[in-house]
Amino acid sequence: MAIKPFSGITPTLADTAFVDPSAILYGDITLYDDASIWPLVAARGDVNQITIGARSNVQDGSVLHVTRRSDSNPDGYPLIIGEDVTVGHKAMLHGCIIRNRVLVGMGAIVLDGAVIEDDVILGAGSLVPPGKTLQSGYLYVGSPAKQARPLNDKELAFLAVSAANYVKLKNEYLGQA
Ligand SMILES: CC(C)(COP(=O)(O)OP(=O)(O)OC[C@H]1O[C@@H](n2cnc3c(N)ncnc32)[C@H](O)[C@@H]1OP(=O)(O)O)[C@@H](O)C(=O)NCCC(=O)NCCS
Repeated sequence: MAIKPFSGITPTLADTAFVDPSAILYGDITLYDDASIWPLVAARGDVNQITIGARSNVQDGSVLHVTRRSDSNPDGYPLIIGEDVTVGHKAMLHGCIIRNRVLVGMGAIVLDGAVIEDDVILGAGSLVPPGKTLQSGYLYVGSPAKQARPLNDKELAFLAVSAANYVKLKNEYLGQA
């Protein structure tokens, strides 16, 4: 498995986390319980930290990176992913904060300093500009991403179900290992 140290820090994985052997993880990355990283994900916690919360999944071909600290931006931009988050195939997450029960559609791009609050769906192929906050409870689509409509009860319930489905799936993959 390509779990590699950078600058003396090696990624920390919960015992129940899953990382596909074709993914590559460098440096200051923490994966909490039941988090899963799927084929060909590239994640570099080299110039700041990456955190992936419990039961969250990062699907195939996604790229995760961060921005270094500087005089003008003392914290830099870490990448923080909360709990029960689904990150679709080939998403690009850079130095942003994604809170809990969010679905990041496949091919979406989220830039430095953006915040996606709890219970949001970001449509496939959308782009969230630097520093923008997406409000809890809404669907956002487009480039730049705009609020499309409130999520209905079925969609809100689906967010946790999507994460749970991926926990089940990674357990099946681990069972085959
Ligand atoms: C966002 C999504 C959930 C919307 O589904 P939906 O219920 O059919 O959406 P709506 O019909 O309410 O669409 C609202 C508007 O946004 C548009 N829209 C929907 N998805 C869009 C997208 N990804 N990008 C741009 N516009 C989109 C619709 O055409 C509609 O526009 P209109 O009002 O001008 O007709 C779905 O299109 C999507 O992108 N899902 C992501 C799935 C995914 O990536 N999963 C992760 C991998 S498993």
